[in-house]
Amino acid sequence: MTTGPATTGVRLAGTGMYVPEGIISNHDLEKRMDTSNEWILQRTGISERHIASLEDGECVLTMATTAAERALADAGLTSHDLDMLVLATVGSEMACPSTACRVMENLGGGNAAALDLTAACSGWVYGLNLAQSMVSSGAHQRVLVIGAEHLTKVVERSTRGRGVSILFGDGAGAAVLTADADPSLGVIAQRMYSDGSGWRELYIPRDERDFPEGEYEEWKVGLMQMNGRAVFKFAVKTFCELIKDTLDAAKLDASEVDMFICHQSNIRILEAARERFGLPEDKLYINIDRYGNTSAASVPICLDELRKAGRVKAGQKVMFVAFGGGLTWASSLWQL
Ligand code: COA
Repeated sequence: MTTGPATTGVRLAGTGMYVPEGIISNHDLEKRMDTSNEWILQRTGISERHIASLEDGECVLTMATTAAERALADAGLTSHDLDMLVLATVGSEMACPSTACRVMENLGGGNAAALDLTAACSGWVYGLNLAQSMVSSGAHQRVLVIGAEHLTKVVERSTRGRGVSILFGDGAGAAVLTADADPSLGVIAQRMYSDGSGWRELYIPRDERDFPEGEYEEWKVGLMQMNGRAVFKFAVKTFCELIKDTLDAAKLDASEVDMFICHQSNIRILEAARERFGLPEDKLYINIDRYGNTSAASVPICLDELRKAGRVKAGQKVMFVAFGGGLTWASSLWQL
C-alpha cells in the first residue's frame, strides 16, 4: 500500500529500544587509561555506557532488529504492514546491501522500501522528518524509523583516544509512524541543516585518503577522530539557535512544548539549552548518565523511555533535537 490521501495526519504509533547487557563504567575506563570518574562525570555527565558483545554477535543489525521488533509489537503491526523502513546509522554492516534490508528479513520479511541513512548523530531526526513527510503526503501509510549504532567498535580505548572513548556507547531505538485521519497530528515545524566545511571535526576514516592534510597516522584508520572542543562550541551555539528557529517557525513559546527530547552528547550542552529557554528540569530529558552518546540511537532511546514511563503521551507537543558529524543538525516539533 503506497498511496493515500494527501496531507493526512501522522501518528506516533509505537516505540522500542534495545541496549546491550554489557556495561563499561567510568571506573572500568580508569583502569584502561589516564582518566578519572570525577573528570568524566563533571565534563560530560556520563557514568556508564553499554557495549555490544562481538563474541555474542551483537552488531548494528541485531540491535536494530530488536528495537524494531519492540516498536512494531507496541504499534500492533508486523513487517508486512510496513511501506518503508529507514535505518539511521554510521555503522551499516556492509556497503551493499543496506542493513535496513537485512532488518526487514529479520523482522519476518515484506516488501517495504528499506534504506540506510547517514547523518551521524542527527540521523534519526533526519529520518523522522523524511518519514513523516512520506506519510503526511499520502505516499506511505506506515513507516518504521530506527536509529542504531555500534560506536564502541570505532573508538580508541587507550589514553591517546580518551576524548572519544569516554563519550560513546552502543544501542538502538525505533518508532513507527502511521497515517491518521486526524490532520492535526504530526510535525508542526521541522528543520534540517548541514555544513560540510566542518566535516574534519568528527570523522571515521576508512583509509589514508580520507584524512585531512597532515592528520594521517596508521593507528587512526577505522577509528573515530574528533576535535572535542570544536564540536562542543558548535553544539552549544547550534542547539540553542535550532530550538529557537523551530519554535519561531511554529509560533510557539518554549513553555508551550511539553517535552524536549534531545541528542545526549554532553550534559553541559543540554543544561546550557535548558537554562537558555528557562525550562524546568523535567521538560528536558537526560539519560546520558546511563548510556553515554549513542549517536543516532540516542533520541529514539529517550523517546521510548519517556513513553514507557508515561511522560510522553498523546495530546502533547514534543520537540526532537539533534546535531552531529557532517556537520549536521535537525529538529522536529510534533503534535502527538
Ligand atoms: N580524562 C581526563 N582528562 C582529560 C580527558 C579525560 N578523558 N580528556 C581530556 N582531558 C584533559 C586534557 O588533556 C586537557 O588537559 P590540559 O588542560 O592539562 O591540557 C583538559 O582535560 C581539557 O581538555 P579538553 O579537550 O579541552 O576537554 P573538554 O572540556 O573540551 O572535554 C570533551 C572534552 C570531549 C568531553 C568535550 O570537548 C566534549 O564533550 N565535546 C563535545 C563532543 C561531542 O559532543 N561529540 C559528539 C557530537 S554528536
